[in-house]
Amino acid sequence: MATKTAQDLALPVGVTLDRFIMRSQSAFPYATGDLSQLLRDIALAGKIIDREVNRAGLVDISGGVGTSNIQGEAQQKLDVVANIRFIRALKNGGEVCAIISEEDEEIIYTGNDNGKYVVAMDPLDGSSNIDVNVSIGTIFSIYHRVTPIGTPATIEDFMQGGRKQVGAGYILYGSSTILVFSTGSGVNGFTHEHSLGEFILSHKNIRCPLDGKIYSLNDGYYDGFQASVQEYVLDCRRRDYSARYIGSLVGDFHRNMLKGGVYLYPPTQKDPNGKLRLLYECYPLAFLAEQSGGRATDGYGDILDIEPKSLHQRTPFYTGSVRMVEDIQARL
Ligand code: AHG
Ligand code: MN
Ligand code: MN
Repeated sequence: MATKTAQDLALPVGVTLDRFIMRSQSAFPYATGDLSQLLRDIALAGKIIDREVNRAGLVDISGGVGTSNIQGEAQQKLDVVANIRFIRALKNGGEVCAIISEEDEEIIYTGNDNGKYVVAMDPLDGSSNIDVNVSIGTIFSIYHRVTPIGTPATIEDFMQGGRKQVGAGYILYGSSTILVFSTGSGVNGFTHEHSLGEFILSHKNIRCPLDGKIYSLNDGYYDGFQASVQEYVLDCRRRDYSARYIGSLVGDFHRNMLKGGVYLYPPTQKDPNGKLRLLYECYPLAFLAEQSGGRATDGYGDILDIEPKSLHQRTPFYTGSVRMVEDIQARL
């Protein structure tokens, strides 16, 4: 029997995330109640970070509010705050036994050794845009643990490789806040309705156009790119493509997935292995790229096929519309 996809379900634009998760869960045997609850916990963390993001400027203005918040914690930069909030939401949720985060060198243990999942995350992506009201995001990647339930998680749980992700997504805090995720049967986006406090299905079954006319990379590093990348950039200019680069990976990826385009973070003189992190930036976005009909490579092969070696390893990253990514890969 053909597997049902989320799109086969009668879930119209406008349904709440909760209803979507509930309906999807009953249609897919793999989507256990635990994974559904974990997605709800992530959505809650997203709402909390969204609130913090929206007050970011105010907290700065009032400076002195300042030294400690309502919980008696020192006020911290938003990426640290996002990290704390996300970890707290996942700890309270109980489905996750361990987390890795861009903000922490080591594995974070939640204290829930019975949790079946581990999460890799970039709690706040696009840090350089925080203070200037430009879109930023949170990226997450979910694995079913491979170590026995009831024991502490180990690095092995995080070293499974991109193809073993059971879910991945991001929350983009932009002109509106949107949660975009996939559990392996397409990509859907849920816009946050502030007055209701709900994520509402707004982008059903997102498909990345096969081709596009947008290229996104940091042109300031041009002199440090390899010749084949330089040549590609020159071709984009010759073809009158549009250059669009926010400097928040989540925002650049989201736009290109919807409109068609390619995002490039090649090796540079400064970062010979690229800058972006495999486990909590590239794997999850590669999962979404593939699920939406797009692609992601390191210039040689699929990002999802890269064997992970360490928690914070970096990789060159080319992702977006299939034809554009293939064009680049053929030149490298
Ligand atoms: P983060 O804020 O999590 O450290 O990630 C920043 C990343 C990514 O969001 C963005 O695309 C890229 O860094 C921008 O880097 P450059 O400033 O080197 O272009
Ligand atoms: Mn990042
Ligand atoms: Mn970050």
